[in-house]
Amino acid sequence: MAGPKANELMEKIVSLCKRRGFIFQSSEIYGGINGFWDYGPLGAELKRNVKELWWRSMTQLREDVVGLEASIIMHPKIWEASGHTSTFSDPMVDCLGCRKRFRADQIEPRSGTAYSYGGATDNAAVELIVSRILHGGPSPARQIFEDALRQEPEEEQRYKLAVGALLNSSDAGLVRLGEEMGSLLQKRVRVDEPFSVLLPPGKQADSARKAAKQFYHQRGVSNAKPFGERAGNVEITTRYCNECGSLLTEPRQFNLMFKTYVGPVEDPDSVAYLRPETAQAIFAQFKTVLEVSRQKVPFGICQIGKAFRNEINPRNYTFRSREFEQMELEFFIRPDEVVEKLAGSVAKHSEGMDLSTPRPTWGWEVWHRYWMEQRLNWYYSIGLPAKSLSCYWQSREKNELAHYAKACVDIQFDFPFGTQELEGIAARGDFDLAQHQKFSGKSMEYFDEEARTKYVPHVIEPSAGVDRLILALICHAYSEDQAPDEKGNPETRVVMRFHPRVAPVKVAVFPLLKNRPELVQKARQVRDLLRPHLTVFYDETGAIGRRYRRQDEAGTPFGVTIDFDTLGEKGPELKETVTLRERDSMKQERVKTADLPSLLLEKVR
Ligand code: GAP
Repeated sequence: MAGPKANELMEKIVSLCKRRGFIFQSSEIYGGINGFWDYGPLGAELKRNVKELWWRSMTQLREDVVGLEASIIMHPKIWEASGHTSTFSDPMVDCLGCRKRFRADQIEPRSGTAYSYGGATDNAAVELIVSRILHGGPSPARQIFEDALRQEPEEEQRYKLAVGALLNSSDAGLVRLGEEMGSLLQKRVRVDEPFSVLLPPGKQADSARKAAKQFYHQRGVSNAKPFGERAGNVEITTRYCNECGSLLTEPRQFNLMFKTYVGPVEDPDSVAYLRPETAQAIFAQFKTVLEVSRQKVPFGICQIGKAFRNEINPRNYTFRSREFEQMELEFFIRPDEVVEKLAGSVAKHSEGMDLSTPRPTWGWEVWHRYWMEQRLNWYYSIGLPAKSLSCYWQSREKNELAHYAKACVDIQFDFPFGTQELEGIAARGDFDLAQHQKFSGKSMEYFDEEARTKYVPHVIEPSAGVDRLILALICHAYSEDQAPDEKGNPETRVVMRFHPRVAPVKVAVFPLLKNRPELVQKARQVRDLLRPHLTVFYDETGAIGRRYRRQDEAGTPFGVTIDFDTLGEKGPELKETVTLRERDSMKQERVKTADLPSLLLEKVR
């Protein structure tokens, strides 16, 4: 669980993201919409860089993977075949008190005293009469109510007792009063719905009554008097709301797919879904891509694109969103029997095994490890160090593994709010292709010329979330250190230490002074020299130190300053040289203007 320090860090990160234009709430001017996010100028560049690097490493730098860009809305049968229509759901609970909705498996267990109520009534009219009787002078009616008060502590029972005594009286006036009260009690609003609330140790029962009053008030009982109060200690339960303590409903399954209608008629035949993953389009197009790309198994098809899940509880900033992007690869391999037939045996994974070059003897297990290693190396290459990443093997015993999956390993990142999944790498067997073959009636078999046999290929699926990765990169990059201000006094500097490969802006160009046209003109020339090769930000306003700080916060790894030396005012040896400042070390060196493109390109590639 995230502690106060981690929460404080997340608050700083969220605030910087908004202030500097990495990430904004979607539809902010209308109060936002939960689970949807927009990327501002810097965020959009960062995201683009990440996707391009993934695409390049998956397709352009390999011979055995090709790309696909499929539509978001597909034939609804796809989701029947994949199992999403029937099983892509989360258990959902509603809070009876605050009415918030949660995922049942995300409720934190709590202990305390549970106060339960059988229902509530609106006793205002009866209470008014009783109060007048009790506060009037001594009378037989007052005697009856005082006796009832002594005998029966529970209000409902007490009224019944008093009305019975009034009706049994020989005094006609008292009988009339009994009839009037009996009729009021019958006519009053009454709700017999049970409610309970869990109070942490040490909390007064009054707050439980207040919660119960509010609950019954919401159900139409204006002056709600909850009745049948019972209190009991409860140990480690997930039946109560973590926010307000009220009882939760029983869990119900909630399908996470966003539904829509294709065409003008909203009937069951035109129902379609926004894809909850990009993977299924790859399976559905497997045969078509195979034919046009002339690939041979083992080979892969990859895709980057939007996915949508109507998450019950979007949380942890962009970590769990309702609209997000995935980068998925479906890598098709020979079934182990075919590998054995061809190679004589199937290589199993062993510790220290060389996974750098695929071999014909590899079975699914080694391919799975291979992709795990490839993906980890990729994360290292974009600046996430090994110590921030870990691998979690899903367990069948704990019911974490999908029934068809042979294995699944999650690559996790240490977010400030806990260690969480960035990417899942699953060995899915032939489940998906076999399902589409069954549901579409079209063969998904592949004829392996080398093995002289037909089969439905098996699949290894590395599936990463772009937005989660962006969040991981932002969290990892955020740092604070001390740097001298304009007067040389130390001040806290916020620096986004992005790896130059992913940094939204690669270099900032500054003329030392804005009011010296010759400096400005030269700086603009340098900007134009670099622009065809790198993302450049040109800034001429404010003191140079402030301009450096602004770029530190944006994560720009290099700054180039054009000063009087550049113009040759201090001598010919420094003419056409600039100061190159490095973001992290703040070190400055003098370099030739003409060398800048090659020098910087080498550093950001
Ligand atoms: N095709 C397999 C698949 O979709 P998944 O584990 O459900 O598997 C893969 O999703 C990745 O997509 C996750 O590791 C995560 O990075 C990202 N992802 C899933 N749900 C997400 C959500 N609600 N918000 C942001 N990213 C999400």
